[in-house]
Parts: sequence; structure tokens; C-alpha cells
Amino acid sequence: MRSHWDAAARGWDAHSPEIRAWLRTATDAMIAMAGVVEGARVLDIAAGAGDQTLDLAERVGSSGAVIATDLSPAIVALAHARAQGAGFAQVQCRVADGEDLQVEPGSFDAAVCRLGLMFFPDPLQGLREMHRALRPGGGVCTVVFSGPQRNPCLAILMATALRHAGLPARDPFAPGSLFSLARPGSIDALFHDAGFRDDATTAVDAVFHLPAVENYLDFVRSSASPILQILDGLNEGAARAAWDDIEAQLHAFDTATAWAGPNELLITAARRP
Ligand SMILES: C[S@@+](CC[C@H](N)C(=O)[O-])C[C@H]1O[C@@H](n2cnc3c(N)ncnc32)[C@H](O)[C@@H]1O
Repeated sequence: MRSHWDAAARGWDAHSPEIRAWLRTATDAMIAMAGVVEGARVLDIAAGAGDQTLDLAERVGSSGAVIATDLSPAIVALAHARAQGAGFAQVQCRVADGEDLQVEPGSFDAAVCRLGLMFFPDPLQGLREMHRALRPGGGVCTVVFSGPQRNPCLAILMATALRHAGLPARDPFAPGSLFSLARPGSIDALFHDAGFRDDATTAVDAVFHLPAVENYLDFVRSSASPILQILDGLNEGAARAAWDDIEAQLHAFDTATAWAGPNELLITAARRP
């Protein structure tokens, strides 16, 4: 997992402006629902190239602190560079597995995890770590993908990549996969089991608006680690055939003037009692 995300780090970083616009509404909701306020000490888990980290740093201000953590050393280096470039001295970046955060218990006011928890082999352990890191009363908020029917572009990518790689269809809800936390009620049950209370999950639309399907393919080819892992072993011709097939299907989301890929995200907020 670490090496795959290391490989996708630059692509995720390079597409920051598009990712930022795509996830704007969800990110604002996540930060508000975790209760992040000026002066707070916030843990950002699976922080990637640090896009939401910048929003957190802005919100907590110079009297607060944001600790951005991720499994991939390459992506943590990019998050660090981005936070430094923005002049946010209140941000620290560390390599850490979300299932073993290595932080002082009870030392954070809030914790967030944007599009990371569904990749954890053991998300309950990830939530237990967040719970342990928070002070009593601290807030947590995660963002994950909802199911394949509400995320048709991701479903197309997965199914087509598997078919071209000669692999059998997978259980879409398998642990560690894009949709692993999408079953109705499953994420709330995990929050509860981890010891959180007052949990609530909200589904939000996150349409990926781009000038053309080629822009989405460019993003996926450089950043979408789960798809790249499946296509990894294909020779050049076979890989081209897979991408051509994917592109043909993704044209279904062409609009009169651009491209709009539907996505739905689940935002779950809770608090440590
Ligand atoms: C889709 S990216 C999201 C990055 C960032 N939060 C964002 O929304 O821009 C998923 C991130 O999860 C990280 N990740 C996957 N498994 C992890 C784990 N067990 N612990 C910590 N980070 C993990 C990957 O390295 C990657 O940076």
C-alpha cells in the first residue's frame, strides 16, 4: 500500500487544484463537523499531499496546530513542502500508519480523515487510534466514498480494469477497497464500536467538474492508486486497450460544454465522550 501511494504521490499533488475544487463542499463540511476552531490542535490522518491540511491550518490559525500524517513518505514530503510554501508554521507533517498513529493519547481537540479510512485494512483500528488521540469531548470527522451505484465513474474504472487484467470481479465492499465503508450503516457501527458517540453520517454529492473526459483520465492515470495497481502488470498494448475502453465509457458523462462525473461521499462526524 505504501509503495503504491508513493508512486501516486506526484500525480495526487499535481492535480491539487482539481481535487480542491471537487472536494470543496465536503472539506468545508468535514472541518466544521469535526469542530475545528481557532487555536485547536488537529490531527489530519491519511493527509495525502496536504490539500485539506491547508484549510485546517487556515482555520486553526497561528495559535493552533495541525499534525498531518500519512503512510506514504513521498506524499508526506509533498504535504510538508506545500505547508511550508504557504507559510503555515503551525503545520507538522509525519509518516504514520493510521492504524498505529504514535501520538500522545488525549492530545488533540479534533481529528479528520478525508478519503483515507476506506483504504485501511482494519478501519476499526484506525478509528480506535483517532479515539485514543482525542481528548474527551474532541470531535472526529471522516469522508469516504459511498457505493458503486452513486460513484459510477469509479465503478467503471474498477470493473473495466479488472476485466482487462483478466481478474475476476471483486466484492465491491471488500476491506481496503474504494467502497469498503459504503454499506448503509457500516461506518456508523464502526464509529460506535471504536467508542465514539453522537455519530451521524450525511451523504453529499461531489460532482467532478472538468473541461473534458481527458482531464479526468489524466487525473486517474497519475493518481488513482487502486486502478493503477490492477493495470500494473499489463503490457503496453493491453494497457492502451484498457484505457481506451475506460475512456469510451466515461464519455457517458460528457455535457454540452464539458464533463461532469457524479460522485457521492459519506461524511461521518462523532465525538469522544
Ligand atoms: C485518496 S488519498 C487522499 C489524500 C488526502 N486526504 C486528500 O483527500 O487529498 C488516500 C491517502 O490515504 C493514505 N493511506 C492509505 N492507507 C493508509 C494508512 N493505513 N495509514 C495512513 N494513510 C494511509 C495514502 O497514502 C493516500 O495518501
